[in-house]
Amino acid sequence: MSDFWQLHNLVECLDKSGLLDDARLEKVHQLANQPNTSVGALLSVLVKSQWLTSFQSRQLRRGRWRGFRLGQYRILRPLSSGGIGIVFWARHCVTGRDVAIKVLRSQHRSKTKFRERLKLEALALSLLQHKNIVRAAEANPLAETDYCLNYLVMELVPGPTLRELLVARKKLRWQQVCDFFLQAARGLKYAHQQGFIHRDIKPDNLIISSDGTVKLLDFGFAKYDGDLPEFESPPGRRVGTAGYIAPELLLDQQEPCAQTDLYSLGCTFYVALTGNHPFPGKTREDRIDAQLDGRFRSVSYWNPDVPRPVAELVERMIRKSRFERIATIDEVIDSLSPYAQRDCVDMCFKSLVIARDRARNLRNARNRSIENQKFLSDVSRHLSFEDSAD
Ligand SMILES: Nc1ncnc2c1ncn2[C@@H]1O[C@H](COP(=O)(O)OP(=O)(O)O)[C@@H](O)[C@H]1O
Ligand SMILES: [Mg+2]
Repeated sequence: MSDFWQLHNLVECLDKSGLLDDARLEKVHQLANQPNTSVGALLSVLVKSQWLTSFQSRQLRRGRWRGFRLGQYRILRPLSSGGIGIVFWARHCVTGRDVAIKVLRSQHRSKTKFRERLKLEALALSLLQHKNIVRAAEANPLAETDYCLNYLVMELVPGPTLRELLVARKKLRWQQVCDFFLQAARGLKYAHQQGFIHRDIKPDNLIISSDGTVKLLDFGFAKYDGDLPEFESPPGRRVGTAGYIAPELLLDQQEPCAQTDLYSLGCTFYVALTGNHPFPGKTREDRIDAQLDGRFRSVSYWNPDVPRPVAELVERMIRKSRFERIATIDEVIDSLSPYAQRDCVDMCFKSLVIARDRARNLRNARNRSIENQKFLSDVSRHLSFEDSAD
């Protein structure tokens, strides 16, 4: 394609994308009409002037223009992704407020099961208002574009997940870990009181902001037993993550309950204190077998600094028998209060997002440890970047 046509296509994509207002579009047209302007030069001017982010520029260069504008929000760049969703960094066109927007991965978008999950997550976000749970950014956080793309608008938490923090820091102070789990337990207790069982507590679903506040994420798998019957989950659907799911849910189709969430919280707590999984396994099947039959090493075997009462608490949270397991979340909260100490989490958000991009690219290698090492070196290498959307 000739330079002229490439430029023409780019300007057309920009027009359709909704990224620039009329005055800026007018300027783009003028720049495009100047002699010797190339696609690369024009895009690089727009990125330098901060009219576009590098992500937007790369997408436009590939001829993509759809989906940059969702309602009143402009998509700046991807933030991260999980099993079913992709989460973007976005900015309100009028107020300039930054938010996180979750959409389903393209392969899940048309499936009723996943659309329902996003709906349930939106319900959870709009009903749950607690400092230890990610908040909705709008009273009704679920919206739909005219081409039927559902999206969920949340507060932006500019920080790492617990999994990322563990990869980057290797070892955390046990007092800080106690504070994380005290906060997570408070958020979880509140969610239970409102009728939600989370069902997927794990290091990826706890996010930590720079002042050390922990928030529970991802209510997409939640079970709701509250006052709105249309959102009740069908019974008997086994969900959760191997390695964190309570053994009774694997065995006899028991219903998830507050105690099964407590078990998952206990496994997550063990991982954060020791850097090791209580029931390790190479494959998903191995992890499920270990969850059913394996025995864990004591917390002090891995980390002798942890005080005995804290180690015992964690070990009681992950007992296989429900009858030996800790009974209530209040016990967790009361036991942790004397030991918890808040620390700031000093991690440059921009470096983190860049490191996530690179780790995502490595995922084809299907090797978490390589992915983790790369993530770690990327976070360290980019520590001097300024925090900004691009
Ligand atoms: N509100 C938010 N603010 C910042 N990052 C977020 C937010 N919500 C999700 N994320 C990031 O996106 C990732 C995936 O989100 P999640 O809701 O867990 O998706 P999935 O349902 O696919 O697992 C999280 O691990 C986190 O890194
Ligand atoms: Mg998740």
